[in-house]
Amino acid sequence: MHKALAIETSCDETSVSIVSNSGDIYKIHSNIVASQIEDHSKWGGVVPELAARKHLELLPFVLEQALEESKIRIEEIDVIASTVTPGLVGCLRVGSITARSLCTLYSKPFLGIHHLEGHLSSILFSKNYPKPPFLTLLVSGGHTELIKVGERRKMQRLGRSYDDAAGEAFDKVGRLLGLSYPGGPAIAKIAKKGNASKFNLPKCKISNKEGGFLKYDFSFSGLKTAVLRLVEKINLNGDEIPIPDIAASFERVVAEVLVERTIKCANDYGLDNIVVVGGVAANDTLRKMMISEACKKSIKVHLAPINLCTDNAAMIGAAALSRLKIKAYESSLKLGISGRLPIDQANTLYEKEPPF
Ligand code: KG4
Ligand code: ZN
Repeated sequence: MHKALAIETSCDETSVSIVSNSGDIYKIHSNIVASQIEDHSKWGGVVPELAARKHLELLPFVLEQALEESKIRIEEIDVIASTVTPGLVGCLRVGSITARSLCTLYSKPFLGIHHLEGHLSSILFSKNYPKPPFLTLLVSGGHTELIKVGERRKMQRLGRSYDDAAGEAFDKVGRLLGLSYPGGPAIAKIAKKGNASKFNLPKCKISNKEGGFLKYDFSFSGLKTAVLRLVEKINLNGDEIPIPDIAASFERVVAEVLVERTIKCANDYGLDNIVVVGGVAANDTLRKMMISEACKKSIKVHLAPINLCTDNAAMIGAAALSRLKIKAYESSLKLGISGRLPIDQANTLYEKEPPF
């Protein structure tokens, strides 16, 4: 059995987790998530400087609580991991310096983890998770990507959003409908009372220079603008804004776009397993639609456990343990942090000469 202590501070959740694996079985011993939602909601989104300061304030207590709850002593831990990219640099720095200091103090190996690899490792806590190769739809507040995951964590990005991420679109539309932050759960809640076929909103595509459209890529900013224009038009007519119907129609279109392009991509690449992870993967409409549509093509869908869709350190720990398993482990203590790194370059985090 291997045990990891993991730290996640890439955005607005301060999280520490102790996880272990025995062969293919992954277990969470503790997963403390201190959300800063309340601190940021009055600004309508994450304020990077405030988030970094909050991590600094909260991390020692979250760390102590995670160790206490796990009943595992830090001396028994095999590896200490933290998210090092992508994310808000001031925030990443807090988790990374804490992890590396603990590694030095307790003579433990350090593993810098790519946040998106963390999200896709959340699936390791679900029953019957698939063996590679499989296709992952990663839908969060910062990213919308289709990633082919191969043996030894070989990752290939097959599609992405050219503008807003799906979660970002949920947050922006939530804000313009006057809902609470973050918009995703607020839209999902109010959409339950609405008619999803009431409004016809656009399924935006990215044009291909050689003609036609890019089949596996996404664009959500046009959809957000379409909702804005719709609200403006209703306002101009002096009518009441049918918030539940707009929320339901918006949620349906986002889910349809994600499902259609993911299934097309899996089908074209001959991948018969789809994994769905990230904050937006908690969306019930998306979860149900993905399962029912993939079933028609005999593709199996694996959904991240709902409580592990949004940012948490358990998924970072799972990524570290699965790195340990393939022996592509141990980052240099010189490894810093970076706001960006494409997922297909995640292997560079374990090179002697780190990329940043
Ligand atoms: O993965 P995550 O915690 O953070 C990033 O790495 O970005 O995702 C947060 C995003 C937010 O945009 C939030 O609105 C969205 O996930 N989200 C949802 C739901 N729960 C969270 N979107 C739609 N439906 C939900 N139930
Ligand atoms: Zn995330």
